[in-house]
Amino acid sequence: MEAYDNPKNRARILGSDRRAEWLKVDEIIEKTGVSQGMVCVDLGCGAGTLSIPLAEKVGSTGKVYAIDTNPDALQVIKEKNPPANLVVLQRNATNTGVDASIANCCFMILLLHEVPPEGVLAEAHRLLKAEGKAITLEWRMDFDSPRPPSNERIDRDRMEQLMAGAGFTSFEYTEWSDSHYVMTAVKR
Ligand SMILES: C[S@@+](CC[C@H](N)C(=O)[O-])C[C@H]1O[C@@H](n2cnc3c(N)ncnc32)[C@H](O)[C@@H]1O
Repeated sequence: MEAYDNPKNRARILGSDRRAEWLKVDEIIEKTGVSQGMVCVDLGCGAGTLSIPLAEKVGSTGKVYAIDTNPDALQVIKEKNPPANLVVLQRNATNTGVDASIANCCFMILLLHEVPPEGVLAEAHRLLKAEGKAITLEWRMDFDSPRPPSNERIDRDRMEQLMAGAGFTSFEYTEWSDSHYVMTAVKR
């Protein structure tokens, strides 16, 4: 088994201090217009690299749901003493059990290439309010690295098709870095 496939190792890698910088987490929050009082869901939250700053941003009048299946990753979040408005749930991103139509933003950061994406996008659509925003960040096809293999990556056209299939509109594509792109879309 490769180091990354072991859930404990994976939780440690995902919890690295450098990850927030690598993903440009502050810029993701800025770009998506997250503000005080909002409700956000972080599907496949890993060790909370995005969820914790999101919870700080929405403040005590807002709420963030951090959802992941890996208990080791969720334990890393708890050890970081997250703010009280961060709700950490060990759930499948296809069936979170969180109430429908509550979220302003639903984030899927490096999740969709790991799971059958249709079920996760359907859940994101269910969780969002009308005019709520879905945010995906994924690997670029032209980034040269062994992982994830190109047949597991989701290119821009397929992402748009998948998001449209889940009911989203108003797509916005951004080349986020040499390695990743961000696609946002809206529930109408
Ligand atoms: C590549 S990591 C990304 C973690 C986090 N979004 C980040 O970028 O730091 C993918 C995460 O998705 C989680 N995951 C995979 N399948 C899942 C599912 N069906 N439901 C919820 N989480 C899932 C994994 O446990 C892992 O923590």
